[in-house]
Amino acid sequence: MTQLVEDQGVTIWLTGLSGAGKSTIANALVEELQERGRKVELLDGDIVRTNLSKGLGFSKEDRDTNIRRIGFVSNLLTRNGVASIVAAISPYRDVRDEVRAHIGSFVEVYVQCPLDELVRRDVKGLYEKALRGEIENFTGVSDPYEAPVNPEVVVDTESETVEESVEKVLSALEELGYLNTVKERVA
Ligand code: ADX
Repeated sequence: MTQLVEDQGVTIWLTGLSGAGKSTIANALVEELQERGRKVELLDGDIVRTNLSKGLGFSKEDRDTNIRRIGFVSNLLTRNGVASIVAAISPYRDVRDEVRAHIGSFVEVYVQCPLDELVRRDVKGLYEKALRGEIENFTGVSDPYEAPVNPEVVVDTESETVEESVEKVLSALEELGYLNTVKERVA
């Protein structure tokens, strides 16, 4: 039986430093995909850490546990036709690749932004604290971030608008066969 594109589940995995814009892009994607008639769920690191991953910290072990839990849930959603959007720093390449292999239908989006711009924005005030040494293991300051080697999409939130970044993701989803083009929908 051939599967319709609109029933094809997919995990859209946004990785990048804190404050880079993962949640902003993810929320805009939710709206766009819903408007296109897709079933959508969002697994946002900040929210997951208040329930599913409550109590976990920021050691490599705890972050890996967090990412594996998110991956587990995202796989359940994906295999049931949902467009599952993940927004989590997910700093370690090996665990991201492990989750990718497990899920299969996986689109990795590297949400890039130079550190000096993140420090300038400092939306949550965390970079200032981390640079003063008040937060241990802070990603990008005192903890590693391993950028994706071959992500399906790279967005740069220093030079692009949210709309431009979202458009890049939507185009990739269309090209990869996870989303009907607007033309196909009208036809
Ligand atoms: S992940 O590494 O396990 O993927 P996750 O995306 O869930 O991280 O959570 C990151 C959020 O936790 C950040 O946006 C920030 O608000 C907060 N946070 C608190 N401590 C740290 C830290 N040491 N490193 C990074 N983020 C931290």
